[in-house]
Amino acid sequence: MCKTKLNLIAAACENMGIGANGALPWRLKKEMAYFSTMTIKVKDPSKVNAVIMGRRTWECIPPKYKPLSERVNIVLTHNVDVLKEKVPEGVIVVPSIDEAISYIEGREDIESTWVIGGSSIYQAAMEHPNCGKIYLTEIQRSFECDTFFPKIPQEVFKQVKEDEIPEEKQTEGDISYYFRVYKML
Ligand SMILES: NC(=O)c1ccc[n+]([C@@H]2O[C@H](COP(=O)([O-])OP(=O)(O)OC[C@H]3O[C@@H](n4cnc5c(N)ncnc54)[C@H](OP(=O)(O)O)[C@@H]3O)[C@@H](O)[C@H]2O)c1
Repeated sequence: MCKTKLNLIAAACENMGIGANGALPWRLKKEMAYFSTMTIKVKDPSKVNAVIMGRRTWECIPPKYKPLSERVNIVLTHNVDVLKEKVPEGVIVVPSIDEAISYIEGREDIESTWVIGGSSIYQAAMEHPNCGKIYLTEIQRSFECDTFFPKIPQEVFKQVKEDEIPEEKQTEGDISYYFRVYKML
């Protein structure tokens, strides 16, 4: 029985778009700070969290921010040998979510695991037996997007309240959004 729970974290707009032209369609500093806090914070200070992402999401991170700091960065690709040559030391390259989980479970210092996109990785994580919660920032506006968050099946996930996560509407400039949490039933 494997103990690693996969928590998904994403920001999506009204049409469930998450990306356009290899970038985020919006610039929301406080939302980015929420992403960092959620994926970095640990209860046990001797541990760190892991982030799992697809190869394109890895490529979308601006060079000065990667690898994502204070987190074990795990990148999925079908071409492990090619990508391994290109990533900085310490970045883990694997060919599947199950390989990522095996890697995480082989270490004793990883507290939580966050799946940070993109589309197919979210989909695979949502369908995975180890799926935990979905932390979805719901942006109250439509943006033109070419990448989308998969449909959250209502019969499988239920919205829950979580301590420390504000329920009220957040506003940055002329964009508002809510931090929502969905849990597998
Ligand atoms: N709003 C948000 O919260 C958010 C979060 C993340 C990303 N994004 C946006 O989403 C876009 C990037 O996401 P994306 O969906 O296009 O790509 P992605 O999921 O990040 O990467 C796709 C790649 O990951 C690898 N991959 C996917 N599934 C795999 C599997 N099961 N096993 C092994 N490798 C697998 C493949 O790499 P190879 O081709 O190398 O085999 C595939 O081409 C960007 O616009 C980014 O800004 C937004």
